[in-house]
Amino acid sequence: MPWRKEYNPKLGVDERAQRAYEVWVSEIMLQQTQVATVIPYYNRWMQRFPTIHDLATANIDEVNALWKGLGYYSRASRLLAGAQKAVKEYGGRLPDNAKEMEANIPGIGRYSAGAICSIAYGERVPVLDGNVHRLLSRFLALHAPPKAKTTLDILWTAAQTLVEIEDTPTTSVNCETTESSESNSPQYPGDINQALIELGSTVCKVKDPDCTPCPLRTWCSAWQKSSDEDIGDIEEC
Ligand code: ADE
Repeated sequence: MPWRKEYNPKLGVDERAQRAYEVWVSEIMLQQTQVATVIPYYNRWMQRFPTIHDLATANIDEVNALWKGLGYYSRASRLLAGAQKAVKEYGGRLPDNAKEMEANIPGIGRYSAGAICSIAYGERVPVLDGNVHRLLSRFLALHAPPKAKTTLDILWTAAQTLVEIEDTPTTSVNCETTESSESNSPQYPGDINQALIELGSTVCKVKDPDCTPCPLRTWCSAWQKSSDEDIGDIEEC
């Protein structure tokens, strides 16, 4: 994915803001559209509007022409309006925290603000799109109305808990916790969030989830319930 770049905490403010612009464009294009479809549109967009300043001075007909075929044209006009506001009021840098971004940039809701700020700015804020909603609902065996406020509160809180994981992963064997040899790299919030989104869309699918290779399977309540007969009682730690 051309918008995926390794997170580097040492980048300066302008480079981070450029990353935020790129992630923003990708996230808006990815709403209701598959990754494979988005890639050529994203590449053409970045050739024509490489920076938020280029976009802010564009005219709507050209923006719509580049969007042709992606559908839901209001997404394109909101990108243009957002770029114009960011240039006028924020010196061309999208706000570097999710609260301010969501409150002030047209077309950016809680999900997009979380994705952009965690990926580009390293802020520990959660994401909850349809994919993460499904994954966490299964993980927690949450049999609750999916759109109810209490359900969403539980899932946003779970997503927040996960994105706060900073330390080296640990493994538990017979209830003894030991440091895992699998990774010593820092747990960046953007990586955690993108892993959840991607796991939800590629493994924890709507139909026929592909549990065998799922790295969360051992801790997943839905999987435990579905395989209780095979594995016997689950030991309480
Ligand atoms: N869909 C929406 N955002 C995504 C991301 N950051 N990575 C993969 N798929 C996505």
